[in-house]
Formats: sequence, structure tokens, C-alpha cells
Amino acid sequence: MSEPLVLGIETSCDETAVGIVKGRKLLANVIASSVEEHARFGGVVPEVASRAHLEAMPATIQQALDISGVKLKDVDAIAVTAGPGLVGALLVGVSAANGLALALEKPLYGVNHLASHVAVDLLTHEEEIRPTIALLVSGGHSSILQVSDITSDIKSLGQSIDDAAGEAFDKIARLLQLGFPGGPLIDKEAKSGKVDAISFPRGLTNAKDLAEHEFDFSFSGLKTAVSRYLQATPEFVRADVAASFQEAIVDVLLQKSIKACLQTGIDSLVIAGGVAANSRLRTVAQQRCAKAGIELRTPPPALCTDNGAMVAALGSLAVAAGRPASSLGLEAASAISPSIPIWA
Ligand code: KG4
Ligand code: ZN
Repeated sequence: MSEPLVLGIETSCDETAVGIVKGRKLLANVIASSVEEHARFGGVVPEVASRAHLEAMPATIQQALDISGVKLKDVDAIAVTAGPGLVGALLVGVSAANGLALALEKPLYGVNHLASHVAVDLLTHEEEIRPTIALLVSGGHSSILQVSDITSDIKSLGQSIDDAAGEAFDKIARLLQLGFPGGPLIDKEAKSGKVDAISFPRGLTNAKDLAEHEFDFSFSGLKTAVSRYLQATPEFVRADVAASFQEAIVDVLLQKSIKACLQTGIDSLVIAGGVAANSRLRTVAQQRCAKAGIELRTPPPALCTDNGAMVAALGSLAVAAGRPASSLGLEAASAISPSIPIWA
């Protein structure tokens, strides 16, 4: 099937999201977020997220159908995030998808949330699909992936050995009393700050660390450095701290991603996941990739953070590639390696 019509459901964290895709064309992308219910706790509360998914699911599916003009009976397959994520939250999406697939007698594809962050890029252009390096940076993961085939061949070259990039943004935002989720707030605050005001450490970039952790990241030292700086500098300038912290993260992420491109001989880089919405990361990536002769893709910010279109996109690519469907008894898994795009 060359242009499958796929409905995708995402519930791994606090977004109840439904996307509808035909082939590589996006028809609908509806998101109901429970983020405001979690903000006062400074992080996502799993039980609250699960209940919010249950409440939002029927209307979100209906809205996606209305926007796309698609009838459920015409859908070729159902795709759903099987993991990684909060198990109680994932179960709501997986149960809904199971029910739909069973009632419609259509195949069910349990997709990997991480691979689907990368797959969403393919909805944004019509060019031939070719191997790429992917920098995947979200609230729970930071990895450099070698993607030979997004539905079957993904190799992890490195990942964070402590905090994820998004987690680092969220923690520093808390220290700076900016609120939750921290990434977009630091991004905004940093716009009026100086990127070189404070020299913060770039983890795992010296020769000794590179020998063992060439493509791995570490952000815990950076977090400690920011925290010490704030304690030692009562008159600190918030925008400067935000800009300098952000610069340190952006610098390391790009140093390693570009090195991965050069070393593998792959002249394509996709930056995906929530942190890929970061404006400074996008700007510096453009400059450095242009200099290195690497083709850069950064999906529009709304497709970088969690959404249903990315799930439908990976499902659609899997159907088109003739990959076997998942079983109807599909399990939700809190941890799945990024190298398994479709969960059996
Ligand atoms: O991919 P995502 O939406 O959810 C997960 O799969 O985790 O990523 C969420 C993360 C959060 O840590 C959030 O602070 C971060 O992405 N984020 C950003 C920006 N927008 C979202 N980080 C930096 N700059 C942004 N503009
Ligand atoms: Zn995500």
C-alpha cells in the first residue's frame, strides 16, 4: 500500500494527541494537554495524566476525524505509542487503539515514541527518504541515532548518561524560578541575555571523556555549575544565566551530532523531540550544518513537541514498507530502546 491512511494516538506523557496521515501528508493533528493540571506540582503527575487522557480521548479522536474529513471505516491502520513513557498514561492510548483496531478489523501498529519523533520530519517535505543522523532531544531522552531505515534500522550511537536535555532545561528553569515546563521559558528568557556572559562546562567533550563517551552526553555537571553560580552570585542576571546555560547545551548537542555526521559520512541531520523546538538550537544548527555541508532538517516547533501526527507518520511508513503489524494484545512499555521502531 503506497499511501496508507493512518490514525495515530499518543498518550506517553501529558498530551492526549491524535493525528491522521495519508502517506506522508498530514491531514489532522489535534492535541489536548493536561500540562496546566501539573504545573503547580512542577512536573507531570502520572495518575493525573492518565485520568486526563481518559477524559480527553473520545473528543480528541472525533475532532481529528472532523478536521480531516476522514471516516473511521476508511482508515487503513491504527498506530499508537507503545512506549517509552508513563505506563498508566500509555495504557489509555493503547487500550483505545486496541478497541479501534478490533472494531474496525484493521491492523494495529505499536510505535516507538522516540522513533516517531524522528519520523515526523517526513511529513514536512516530499523528498526521497535517505539515511540520516538524528539528534533526538526530549524531556526523557537525548540520543544520537544513525537512522538507515526509520521503520527497521536505527542504531544508537550515544545517549545521555544522566539527565536528558529537556530535563536539564526543566531543572534549571526551576532554579531560576521560571515555571514548568522550563524549556520554552528558558528559550524566551535567554533572548535578552548574553550567551557568553558565563562560561558553563560542556560535559564529556575533553579528550579523555571523548575516548569513552564519543557520542554520549552528560548534563549533571552543567546543572551543578549553574546551581553553584546562582548561590555564589546573589546579584545574578537571570537572562544571562539562561542564555549561557542554553548555549552550553546547544554547543555540546551540535558538536557531537555534526561529528557523528562527519564520521559516518552521512550528510543529513534531523533534530527531533521537544528540545528541537528551541530557537537557539535551531539557529546555531543552521550555521554549523551549512559550514559542514550537512543538510539540516528541524520540523516546525509544533511537530517537535509530543503530538499524534508523528505516531501516525511512523505507522504510515511501517504500513507502506510492509512491516508486520503488532498483536492486538500489545503491551505498553515504560522503556523501549530507540533501535526498535515497531513494538510487536
Ligand atoms: O518530546 P517532548 O514534548 O516530550 C517528551 O517526550 O519528553 O519534550 C518535552 C521537553 C520538555 O523538557 C520541555 O522543557 C522541552 O522539551 N522543550 C524545550 C522547548 N520546548 C519544549 N526545551 C528547550 N527549548 C524549547 N523551546
Ligand atoms: Zn516526546
